[in-house]
Amino acid sequence: MKVSASAPGKVTLLGEHAVVYGKPALVTAIDKRVTVLAEETNSGRIVITSPDLHLSGLRMIMSGTSTHYEVCADPSPAAVYVTEAVRTAREKMGDITGGDFEIHSEMPVGAGLGTSAAVAAAIISAYAGLQDRRLDTRELSEMVRSVEVRAQGSSSGMDPTVVVNGGVLYFDPNKKDTRKLNSGRLYLLVGYTPRVMSTGESVRRVRTLYERHSGTVSRVLESIEDLVTEGFAALASGDYAGLGELMNINHGLLSALGVSSLRTEEVVHVSRSAGALGSKITGAGMGGAVLSLSENPSIRKRIAQAVSAIGAQPIVLSCEPKGVTVERRSG
Ligand code: MEV
Repeated sequence: MKVSASAPGKVTLLGEHAVVYGKPALVTAIDKRVTVLAEETNSGRIVITSPDLHLSGLRMIMSGTSTHYEVCADPSPAAVYVTEAVRTAREKMGDITGGDFEIHSEMPVGAGLGTSAAVAAAIISAYAGLQDRRLDTRELSEMVRSVEVRAQGSSSGMDPTVVVNGGVLYFDPNKKDTRKLNSGRLYLLVGYTPRVMSTGESVRRVRTLYERHSGTVSRVLESIEDLVTEGFAALASGDYAGLGELMNINHGLLSALGVSSLRTEEVVHVSRSAGALGSKITGAGMGGAVLSLSENPSIRKRIAQAVSAIGAQPIVLSCEPKGVTVERRSG
């Protein structure tokens, strides 16, 4: 049995970090995917390879109830999401006789594009596929969320929900239902520079600030919640200029929470000068992806040239309606 499972990445239009404190967020899946090709074997071990994620030969040896891992090269930060995804899949679905898993990613890892959640969703779906099981979206999102909790210490569930379901979502962590929105076409671009901190560290940094200045930080989080409410209306009415302004304000509030960096500010300001309607951190921040919204493809091209001129990598994105997909082939 062979299985191909894939999951999209994501960008947050408004609301990251505040979502960890129970506030809603606006988030969209993107047309960049992680694909896992899995094949069942009788080797008693799970062998994972991914040149894209710098995981050349992550081997998980399963013997009876004990498991250990061998990493045959410098592991990327994605290694922990991979091992936790396999561990979670085994706990929920039992052992397989062995398997070769090959991971391909169209996105850089640890950039704020939801690659870690997409990797976990694709691995767990491939594992289920090898057992001829179908996981429903809620069950799968919950499993991916538990991978994130184990790998980074906490998770709001936002990235797991959007990579599993796809689409543009109004995500409210306190309510069980997530609304899919009908947005018009969004011209999105990411200017990417490497991150200087992991998601877990960045979330802990905000937590420390919250504990030291809870009144002030609570008001910042409430302001982000207001932006999300306004952004929901702006998106629904096609007011992209308004949405861009809200993104700019959101970026200022993320800076106030201490998750921006000199490099991030450079990319934000260069993007705005090149004509972005709005530019902000997307994801946990501290470097990584800066998301810009533009009015049309030619302005987006101008922004791409401008970010590239300061050494950031431009990544053109569209919203992606499709969440996790699984294809099985026998033989
Ligand atoms: C990371 O993509 C988004 C954060 O809000 C963390 C989370 O939602 O768990 C920073």
